[in-house]
Amino acid sequence: MSNPLATTFAGIPFKNPVTTASGTFGFGDEYANFYDLTELGGLCTKGLTLEPRLGNKGQRLYETPSGLINSIGLENPGIDHFVERIWPHLKTLPSVTIANVSGSDENSYLEALRRLNAIDVPLIELNISCPNVKAGGMAYGTSPDSAANLTAKAVAVSRHPIMVKLTPNVSDIVSIAKACEEAGAVGLSLINTIQAMAVDVHQKKIVFDNIYAGLSGPAVFPIALRMVHQVCKAVDIPVMGVGGIATWEDALAMMMVGATCIQVGVMNFIDPYRPIKIIEGLKNYCEEEGLKSIEEIRGILL
Ligand SMILES: Cc1cc2nc3c(=O)[nH]c(=O)nc-3n(C[C@H](O)[C@H](O)[C@H](O)COP(=O)(O)O)c2cc1C
Repeated sequence: MSNPLATTFAGIPFKNPVTTASGTFGFGDEYANFYDLTELGGLCTKGLTLEPRLGNKGQRLYETPSGLINSIGLENPGIDHFVERIWPHLKTLPSVTIANVSGSDENSYLEALRRLNAIDVPLIELNISCPNVKAGGMAYGTSPDSAANLTAKAVAVSRHPIMVKLTPNVSDIVSIAKACEEAGAVGLSLINTIQAMAVDVHQKKIVFDNIYAGLSGPAVFPIALRMVHQVCKAVDIPVMGVGGIATWEDALAMMMVGATCIQVGVMNFIDPYRPIKIIEGLKNYCEEEGLKSIEEIRGILL
């Protein structure tokens, strides 16, 4: 029997459209204790940088009603460690590994991408949207020109397809999405976290050392849905919907407004089985609705 959840994203086959969001799934090891990672459509790595990073000092996480504010600051073991130690295991999984790449300046982004040319990672997620680092990150993702400039250079140095991850912290996400498309991105993912802050009134202090941090989780779902709808109406490349997805209905809503795949983030912390439950829910939906392929519902609300 054919698999109704099978899909392709920028020509890359996914066994289902459900993937995990960068920074909420490590490199998969911890979650492999709960279920077989090969069940996932894809797995997105923690944000990788040229050099290893310890991340931000001070408090890094703060819970809000239906949300989580984080200020991790791209803690990661560095690109060389990924290539030599982590990739040999990830490449054995039939799910699509997406390597999320960040940098503090243009050179560090491009050198990280060059080093990834040594391995056959199927898809790169270029993170131009991290709100938690002082240099680089979101700075590249807030204007069409800087987003296009970095995307074009990334496409030129990388032998892998580049999907660009967009920030919601802009007034016109559509112009940035179109600029990335024109610069050669094969796909887009959105949204990264929404800039936020928290105050500890009892200690009369701001919670995060960097003052501002990034909000995500179910609280942001309607905003992410709106932005995915706007971007899918405007571009011809595929989109991964990210932001607050908690249920199979949320995943389906993202696909109805045009997303090809979706990423599950904060919900992994609340329920490690959530991506699997979303896959099951989508499978049952296809069966009940008599859909031969989930692609039949993609974009029906555009
Ligand atoms: C603790 C934490 C760490 C994150 N780290 C990264 C990262 O390294 N790179 C990145 O592109 N996004 C990162 N994100 C953003 C998520 O990938 C995702 O875009 C965002 O959380 C929205 O999805 P969600 O509401 O389902 O969590 C992080 C999010 C959280 C909560």
